Amino acid sequence: MLNFEDDFTPAAQPVNVPSFLRKDAAPSAAADEAPAAPSTQRVQASDKRIINGATDVNQLVPFKYKWAWQKYLDACANHWMPQEVNMSRDIAQWKDPTALTEDERRLVTRNLGFFVTADSLAANNIVLGTYRHITAPECRQYLLRQAFEEAIHTHAYQYIVESLGLDEGETFNAYHEIASIRDKDEFLIPFINTLTDPEFKTGTPENDQALLKSLIVFACIMEGIFFYVGFVQILALGRQNKMTGAAEQYQYILRDESMHCNFGIDLINTIKLENPHLWTNEFKKELTGLFQKGVELEYRYAEDTMPRGVLGLNSAQFKEYLRFIANRRCQQIGLDEMFPGVTNPFPWMAEMIDLKKEKNFFETRVTEYQTGGALSWD
Ligand SMILES: [Fe+2]
Ligand SMILES: [Fe+2]
Repeated sequence: MLNFEDDFTPAAQPVNVPSFLRKDAAPSAAADEAPAAPSTQRVQASDKRIINGATDVNQLVPFKYKWAWQKYLDACANHWMPQEVNMSRDIAQWKDPTALTEDERRLVTRNLGFFVTADSLAANNIVLGTYRHITAPECRQYLLRQAFEEAIHTHAYQYIVESLGLDEGETFNAYHEIASIRDKDEFLIPFINTLTDPEFKTGTPENDQALLKSLIVFACIMEGIFFYVGFVQILALGRQNKMTGAAEQYQYILRDESMHCNFGIDLINTIKLENPHLWTNEFKKELTGLFQKGVELEYRYAEDTMPRGVLGLNSAQFKEYLRFIANRRCQQIGLDEMFPGVTNPFPWMAEMIDLKKEKNFFETRVTEYQTGGALSWD
């Protein structure tokens, strides 16, 4: 049985020590060499590196990775909180035996069964794993924001579970008890374990590839594929005027996740640029195999949540959609398309991601959330 707590709470290890006091605060590659005193030299942007960097991680500026800083700003401008969304209509529909079919109810409970733990998994992976291996402070700044967004997402799913009065024990244990959910999480565990292992350090080609692989699995397969059957399902319900509060929350989550995925892709591509020796043919082949497995697992989850087809959605469409997304993820990180010629059976999903200032799809609130506004000194 999975026990993430064991995996994520390593005892006595250097994660809790401020990095500037650690002997290995400089590149992990230098960890076995004589310990370096904390550098008091001024940071040059050109010296910064995403991994194995030697510059002071406490100095955000001078900027080198402006794309990461911009994503941090954009993410803050998209801030939202779950309790702002009115759930009263969803609650009434959930109580009304005629408002939703049995298949639709199953879809909602299985859907939440995956998501209620998925974002905690993502948050733990960032905080206890990814963060300490990234030596660019601009990227760390975004990761801090991303970690908080994962907390908001877990909050949102919990808020939906509570609002609908679902069985919490059943929902939060689905990742142990429902095979199609457990299989997705078990696929991820070895990659999370790599990053959270206190003994794991970057600085060798082998370990740098292990890090890169885990980043790709997380950004492109977990956040980039494993979330998408679930997003389509709840947003499709919302399009039919069902569970619109939940759908609105999923819409904000989709927007956040889409940015997480894009940040991860920029991070991956920059690591590739800075470390071209890591991108070998053998490595690419291994990655393609992981994408193949990811698509299969997500398709099985689609079949399990919708055994008969529901809401005008059927499994053939999901097969096509997952292949379409996998192609896009591969192309975004420089791998060959795996499924040439597939098209997007859900073009409306693009509108869901590209929310800007206009009212959101469900017409309930303005979606750009800017607390306090920007300071102006004019
Ligand atoms: Fe999330
Ligand atoms: Fe995420």
